Amino acid sequence: ANNLKGRDFIELDDFTPDEIQYLIDLAIEIKHKQKSGEVYQPLKGKTIGLIFEKSSTRTRVSFEVGAFQLGAHALFLSKNDIQLGRGEIISDTAQVLSRYLDGMMIRTFGHENVIDLARYATVPVINGLSDLAHPCQVLADYQTVYEHKGKLKGLKLAYIGDGNNMAHSLMIGGAKLGVHVSVATPEGYEPDASVVKECLEIARETGSQIVVTRSPQEAVKDADVIYTDVWASMGFEEEQKIREAAFKDYQVDEQLVQGAKSDYLFMHCLPAHRGEEVSEGVIDGSNSVIFDQAENRLHAQKALMAALMG
Ligand code: CP
Ligand code: NVA
Repeated sequence: ANNLKGRDFIELDDFTPDEIQYLIDLAIEIKHKQKSGEVYQPLKGKTIGLIFEKSSTRTRVSFEVGAFQLGAHALFLSKNDIQLGRGEIISDTAQVLSRYLDGMMIRTFGHENVIDLARYATVPVINGLSDLAHPCQVLADYQTVYEHKGKLKGLKLAYIGDGNNMAHSLMIGGAKLGVHVSVATPEGYEPDASVVKECLEIARETGSQIVVTRSPQEAVKDADVIYTDVWASMGFEEEQKIREAAFKDYQVDEQLVQGAKSDYLFMHCLPAHRGEEVSEGVIDGSNSVIFDQAENRLHAQKALMAALMG
């Protein structure tokens, strides 16, 4: 199943359902190896550059630690500390770094930056979050759901809040894997229309149902998973006040989750704002799997690096 060597990882729509499931299975296998103390170093002597234009806790640490555990060396490259921050163009950066590195990850604002880096790089490029997509998070998230529920196909995931990068990648991943995804957003904060259209096309082949609604109650009805994310993503901080008003009826709280299945999972990519997109009781309650998700970033990205760069 693995013909992933040399490929880029920009969004899950570039991958078949079998390839995504392969990565999830590999992540679980690598997780077991690590927990049993087995040394697994398929990337011995290799290097990966991590370009960051935005802040990060999980992505940075999980990629650095994951690369180390696989035998590779990771370089943290803050955009402002490399010449990219002084106007060196992406195509030159991509070609130069490709002469040193075996892989690159980039976290950036415009999704076109990821695409440009991948176009000019001769080594695999991984999207570590853009304004459009966050596929590494979603790979770890569906791994987490699979571990807790034992399956993916036919489950219902409700996403409540901003139609942002997380909403997009959860919808695409869900459509690919046969997960039904219902997204509830306030007016003006819907997911990108072209992403929705693409998901509906993918879903026709996999049997997934993709729904976009205004109603959080409709979205969470009988859901197996309730997912939310911050109201103001990185780059939108100055809209915080406007967004607090727009999203006030979209908090995932004790009352809203009543509509879901009793064994629903609460999920959040983190960082979270208790009292905004989620109540303290829900995020810190017994249905919450937020730290399993965070942990799985490590295992899922180790699988990804091993598959693309091995
Ligand atoms: N969820 C996530 O990507 O977290 P960081 O911003 O801390 O990397
Ligand atoms: N939507 C959030 C996700 C952070 C991991 C953001 O882009 O800031």
